[in-house]
Amino acid sequence: MYPALDTDLLYSGIILHDMGKVIELSSATAASYTLEGKLLGHITIMVNEIGAMADEMGIGKTEEVILLQHMVLSHHAKPEWGSPKPPLIKEAVILHMLDNLDAKMNTVTRALIKTKPGDFTERLFALDNHSLYRPSFDNERTGIVKANDLSSFDAGEEA
Ligand SMILES: [Fe+2]
Repeated sequence: MYPALDTDLLYSGIILHDMGKVIELSSATAASYTLEGKLLGHITIMVNEIGAMADEMGIGKTEEVILLQHMVLSHHAKPEWGSPKPPLIKEAVILHMLDNLDAKMNTVTRALIKTKPGDFTERLFALDNHSLYRPSFDNERTGIVKANDLSSFDAGEEA
């Protein structure tokens, strides 16, 4: 659909952008932050890992390596969201939008799970402080995960 995109770079960014969470968090269930997680965060961890891997492979600091590091570094888009640089290449813009969409859908799903059909959710900061309506006929429909499946969303709350 967008032939000008470097799909190798985009897919690599999609796969790697949150991989630092493996080091940032102590485990997938009942996750708590490791020392590296608290002091560096998953973005810095993964940028360092990419650099270390490139060195180990004898690639060094090529433009491709720097672009991949930028994909990871910029995926939260704003300093207040954890990225020191905004997305500055088209693939990074797309990665941020996909990550943002995923984070918002996670927020929406969590809020709707806690809301009865026919009611509005609490105000959702991530959605400009709007409350979403859960249709009255939306009872146990697909797409709304059961409350006991909420734990699968906990580890991914911070995009
Ligand atoms: Fe992230």
